[in-house]
Amino acid sequence: MKVLVSGASEGIGLAVCKKFLQQNFEVVGLDVQSASINHMNYTHFVCDVRGALPDVDGVNVVITSAGVQLPDEDTIDVNLKGTINVVEKYALQPNIKSVVTIASSSARNGAEFPMYSASKGGVVAYTKNVALRLAKYGATANSVSPGGVKTASNAPVMNDQKLWQAVLDESLLGKWAEPEEIADFVYFLSVVNKSMTGEDILIDNGEMLKSNFIWDTSRL
Ligand SMILES: NC(=O)c1ccc[n+]([C@@H]2O[C@H](COP(=O)([O-])OP(=O)(O)OC[C@H]3O[C@@H](n4cnc5c(N)ncnc54)[C@H](O)[C@@H]3O)[C@@H](O)[C@H]2O)c1
Repeated sequence: MKVLVSGASEGIGLAVCKKFLQQNFEVVGLDVQSASINHMNYTHFVCDVRGALPDVDGVNVVITSAGVQLPDEDTIDVNLKGTINVVEKYALQPNIKSVVTIASSSARNGAEFPMYSASKGGVVAYTKNVALRLAKYGATANSVSPGGVKTASNAPVMNDQKLWQAVLDESLLGKWAEPEEIADFVYFLSVVNKSMTGEDILIDNGEMLKSNFIWDTSRL
């Protein structure tokens, strides 16, 4: 089985590549940066998901993790149009078994930079559209929407003790996820799962659930 992963050099995409290599998949990674993995079953292409992509035959699983968190329109181009570019190039063919796109909890609550939340909302909607078109191959397409994940892209808050505590206090479980945990969800959705399609999975340590019950206790 061959899996293609965008954003393979760092963070969630790198953790996804390692997970699939552990499971003896052939892994093809795309990234603007050079390879972070040296493994006999790993092939890396340095490319930008916004542009021309290399030809890769017989892809069975497509995972899109390439993304940026910037306050400008590059965010739409990379996160949304780049995701569409990768999925249209590699997934719309009879060998495909599954697609998993990495969206974000911002797709659900509109948080973070405007272009970022819009790009991720687009990814969730686009993935449902892919599910409709892949059904004829018996393939699934789902998105995962992480809340905070401990990757280099979050260094500005993770390296500041005050901001980091404020960030942790936002979640119900008082922590963020490790990239390897997101990779486990991606693996389950793309390999173990055969019956769920067109869905979005929120993995946010209960951040969106967190709420306080306000009541007049003298009435109890
Ligand atoms: N880390 C989080 O808290 C978090 C939360 C929700 C969603 N996400 C999403 O998960 C995905 C991965 O995030 P991460 O935290 O692992 O980020 P990261 O910065 O650690 O890794 C992203 C990778 O994508 C690559 N990349 C960026 N632009 C590219 C382009 N134009 N073409 C090809 N490759 C490109 C980078 O070089 C990098 O290797 C992103 O889509 C991000 O929006 C992350």
